[in-house]
Amino acid sequence: MNNAPTPEAVDALSTVSLRCVECSTLYPGIEAGSPPRYRCVCGGVLDVEMQFALPHIQTASLQESFDGFSAFGSNSNLAPTAGAKLRQLFDERASTPPIWSISADKMLLDYSGVWRYRELILPVPEEYIVSRPEGNTGLYPVGRENCGPGRSGHRQIGVYAGLERLFLKHEGENPTGSFKDRGMTVGVTMANILGAQAVACASTGNTSASLASYAAQAGMRSIVFLPAGNVASGKLAQSLAYGATTIQIDGNFDDAMHLVEQVCSELGIYLLNSLNPFRIEGQKAIGFEILQQLDWQTPDWLVLPAGNLGNTSAIGKAFRQAYQLSLISHMPRFASIQAAGANPFYRSFKQGFARQEQVQAETVATAIKIGNPVSYARARQVIEESDGIVEEVTDAEILAAKTVIDRAGLGCEPASAATLAGIRKLVERGVIQRDEHVVGILTGNLLKDSQTGIPQRHEGSVVQANIDSVRKVLLP
Ligand code: F0G
Repeated sequence: MNNAPTPEAVDALSTVSLRCVECSTLYPGIEAGSPPRYRCVCGGVLDVEMQFALPHIQTASLQESFDGFSAFGSNSNLAPTAGAKLRQLFDERASTPPIWSISADKMLLDYSGVWRYRELILPVPEEYIVSRPEGNTGLYPVGRENCGPGRSGHRQIGVYAGLERLFLKHEGENPTGSFKDRGMTVGVTMANILGAQAVACASTGNTSASLASYAAQAGMRSIVFLPAGNVASGKLAQSLAYGATTIQIDGNFDDAMHLVEQVCSELGIYLLNSLNPFRIEGQKAIGFEILQQLDWQTPDWLVLPAGNLGNTSAIGKAFRQAYQLSLISHMPRFASIQAAGANPFYRSFKQGFARQEQVQAETVATAIKIGNPVSYARARQVIEESDGIVEEVTDAEILAAKTVIDRAGLGCEPASAATLAGIRKLVERGVIQRDEHVVGILTGNLLKDSQTGIPQRHEGSVVQANIDSVRKVLLP
């Protein structure tokens, strides 16, 4: 399979480097003539570093401020005006209506909730971008106080959490129903640049659904490795329907992850797990979009479910960069929530991150049934630098929280409900104060998993088609 980057692509990505999270070795973003690099020679995972280029802002002061600024430099001391101008640029783009010109052959990038922030995502030539578009997901005010009129049902979520000001960001509203589309638009764009004909991932279901969809759009073959019997039916249906070669392996997600790395390197297939650092860059857009929806005000807490730890890494990086760029004045505290039966990150956190733990994962929330997370080192940095916390919640707590979110009319898949279960627990423990401003992420759509935690229809509940029978059901 062909993985040769074109000269234009090499040129466009010349400001991008990959740095090892473990030993800090620096590599070029792409290396012409060599296969793509996903790990350092020391085995550590890689993180994208780049010089931000802001071509649409001609203002001298801002351009000067940004010249030579590295996304991973120490605190930049940028003038607050630089941040204000960048906010203005993104706000102007966000007002772009989602329309197609009858004569245009492509959707404006500004309408994508990822590529709107393109200077902070990846400097790629527009013609390579593979976008649905994605993002633009709802941020729902559901706290006791910030839940406005016409939302009394949503308010029940705030009551359950014990919070006055709570927002839920519903990433299940992305094109394939999960947050994975944000990383995948960037990952498949990179595959396109590299001339890859086939892409692959191991997945608990959502990454594979997203990969299959974006690969199909780009005309690439997709190959997905799933832990047999541990993928929710909606996600499996998506991979199959979008035409992915779907390989269910006799093993768990961690086995599938190990296998896919081997397969990709031996067969020259482009790997699109979150081990791929470019996917993380796309997922950062969740953080930028939340900030934009909050008019660039930083919440006190950002709470999200944690499995392979790509999302904790990505959203943490987004807030770190937003802070470095003076888009915001301080970082929120991060709370990553794990299922108690799949809690290696929680165990490490409890020991002050003395060592990376592994577990044999078991939880009803199959999306986060992961015992050996790939992005451990990146996510650890986010928790440490944000004075964050890792919490665990039981399956019963996840399902109870899911019922509250479902009954409020928002709905989500089980892993997403770990967010609310975690918030409730942290409020009860007094870690999150009741008057603090909290944003929680719902990562996946209710329809992904229509079996777990949803009352199933039994034949016994079928009602005769006459008014008397219905009256018996509806009236006490
Ligand atoms: N929520 C959902 C719905 C997910 O699908 C995942 C991960 C997570 C949370 C955890 O995010 O891994 O970045 O910490 N799903 C991956 C997959 C593993 O293959 O779809 P993470």
